Amino acid sequence: MNASTAGGPQAGEVRMYYPSEEFVRQATISGMSAYEALCREAESDYTGYWAKRAREMVTWKTPFTQVLDESNAPFFKWFADGTLNASYNCLDRNLERGLGDKTAIIFEADDGEVTRINYRDLHAKVCQIANGLRSLGVQKGDRVVIYISMSIDGVAAMLACARIGATHSVVFGGFSAQALRDRIEDTRAKVVITADHQIRGGKQLPLKAIVDEALSLGGCDSVERVLVVRRSGAPVNMVQGRDRWMADVVGGQAQTCEPEWVEAEHPLFLLYTSGSTGKPKGVQHSTGGYLVHAALTTAWTFDLKPNDIFWCTADIGWITGHTYIAYGPMALGATQIVFEGVPTFPDASRFWRMIERHKVTIFYTAPTAIRSLIKAAESNDTVHPRNFDLSSLRLLGSVGEPINPAAWEWYYRHVGGERCPIVDTFWQTETGGHVITPLPGATPLVPGSCTLPFPGIMAAVVDETGKDVPNGQGGILVIKRPWPSMIRTIWGDPERFKKSYYPEEFGGKYYLAGDGAIRDAKTGYFTITGRIDDVLNVSGHRMGTMEIESALVAKTDLVAEAAVVGRPDETTGEAICAFVVLKRPLPTGDEARAIAKELRDWVAKEIGPIAKPKDIRFGENLPKTRSGKIMRRLLRSIAKGEAITQDTSTLENPAILDQLGQAY
Ligand code: WTA
Repeated sequence: MNASTAGGPQAGEVRMYYPSEEFVRQATISGMSAYEALCREAESDYTGYWAKRAREMVTWKTPFTQVLDESNAPFFKWFADGTLNASYNCLDRNLERGLGDKTAIIFEADDGEVTRINYRDLHAKVCQIANGLRSLGVQKGDRVVIYISMSIDGVAAMLACARIGATHSVVFGGFSAQALRDRIEDTRAKVVITADHQIRGGKQLPLKAIVDEALSLGGCDSVERVLVVRRSGAPVNMVQGRDRWMADVVGGQAQTCEPEWVEAEHPLFLLYTSGSTGKPKGVQHSTGGYLVHAALTTAWTFDLKPNDIFWCTADIGWITGHTYIAYGPMALGATQIVFEGVPTFPDASRFWRMIERHKVTIFYTAPTAIRSLIKAAESNDTVHPRNFDLSSLRLLGSVGEPINPAAWEWYYRHVGGERCPIVDTFWQTETGGHVITPLPGATPLVPGSCTLPFPGIMAAVVDETGKDVPNGQGGILVIKRPWPSMIRTIWGDPERFKKSYYPEEFGGKYYLAGDGAIRDAKTGYFTITGRIDDVLNVSGHRMGTMEIESALVAKTDLVAEAAVVGRPDETTGEAICAFVVLKRPLPTGDEARAIAKELRDWVAKEIGPIAKPKDIRFGENLPKTRSGKIMRRLLRSIAKGEAITQDTSTLENPAILDQLGQAY
């Protein structure tokens, strides 16, 4: 890449990073003119543009004749009269293209042991699981919850569900029994697929025991079977008549399995994510439109080629692991890494070692990981990327939260060797795939900006009334037209879908992302300015403040009231700060520390360790307005340690400001 400043180096101008000529030459989308041509194509014939992509990227059993159906907006339909199967597209199609011997997954276990599986064997494995599920009575439309760590089995389980038309819902292995129970109850899943344990960072952590606990909490009577993959081999409790070892169920099954051809709109999966209110919502994705965009963005944003070794470090419990592990790369017949462990075990050079070992060419990770590895490298030179041969890399990616320019520069220099473009991909669970992102062989890069919309995505920045704001002025990020991989509804709650994403106050016209954004006055580049709702982003994980508040007040013996806000954090992006009123006298010192620990453990049990508040502050009450609303802006200032500029004259008890000043 060549860095330069557009129009000469004047003070205050942004430095732009251009892809090397060599990169541009070989790129699938080569040069800005190619990008602009695609945008023009989408502008002038929107449905024609998407229909063309849908035919190129996906093999249809029955070709579609309808492209976009807007008759029941905002419940849009794409390619509705077409039929297909996602697992066919990710497996069989690759075999038909002669890729049977090609490695599909290079699995590296926590302890470094490597297992490879080629497309032929993965196909056979998926078919056996699919047949096994069918033998247990799982049919098209049934839901299957998958609660498992990163593994070939996890990916195979997802594809097996897709094969028989069952809708999967993967629950991140870090969620607690309570959170798992909520998701099982909401999906009314028939089967839960799990493993005995997960192994991460040298530790063996329970999975099956948590499933048992979740099911014992009640509300899960839809579950007929629990299938258990053996990972640790350590003993677990098996409930007679309900629980079966996966190996026993799939053992005698045929290695072929006729796919269930489903309509394009058939729900491929549900994935729960946090919103600003209430419980996590089950984001429902389609099969056809979703797969089109998963494959298309993998091909264009990652410039994926047959010889690439692709590594997305996300967990399959998040959307990134769905689109850029289970579906996108598989649909293109890629070779990819699936990693069981954590970036800091056995030490913080694990990623660099793995890139060197497997000759990774495309590496896609989260800013929070980069920031923590920078910190580690600063205090221990032996884990610095410069000690490793990373010359196989040709492209880097970032996802999940804004990447600060300093982290960008470090990633660019020390990991990418000033040679690899960085694609800062903005998207969401709801968008299914990238919506604003550079295309690496076209878009000049600016650190901290996700640059320009993916061709065919009509992203814009508007004001509260839905009117475009001029570049250079901040506003609300929207997408003006429906796109194939968008959320279809919130499972079981279409009203909430409408309210959350197409609110009436806003004219009900545009998809509301929930983020603020600003476009650069000169380049038109987008920079995401953060959530405009009560959603926090902690280490790239989405968390609703209300969700954590509900968890805290559920500790009824201790907590009277709680409010949760975020504050900036150098490593995790945002940190969770809880303000708590106890049902007992205000604690201080060791007592306060002990109660704070008790509350953290409680939240870990209610939601999962990722939701533990970093700071807990106690007060005799919370600052409220005259009408009784918690003054959240004030709490945010306190959390940040800022001087308080808000009007506090209405506070009944000004002494609480001092009390809340102390974090535990
Ligand atoms: C944030 C993850 C800035 C944003 C794929 C969004 C980002 C939320 C970026 C979605 C990025 C994601 N730059 N912010 N490149 N990518 N976000 O659903 O606030 O877990 O709304 O999807 O993450 O998080 P989710």
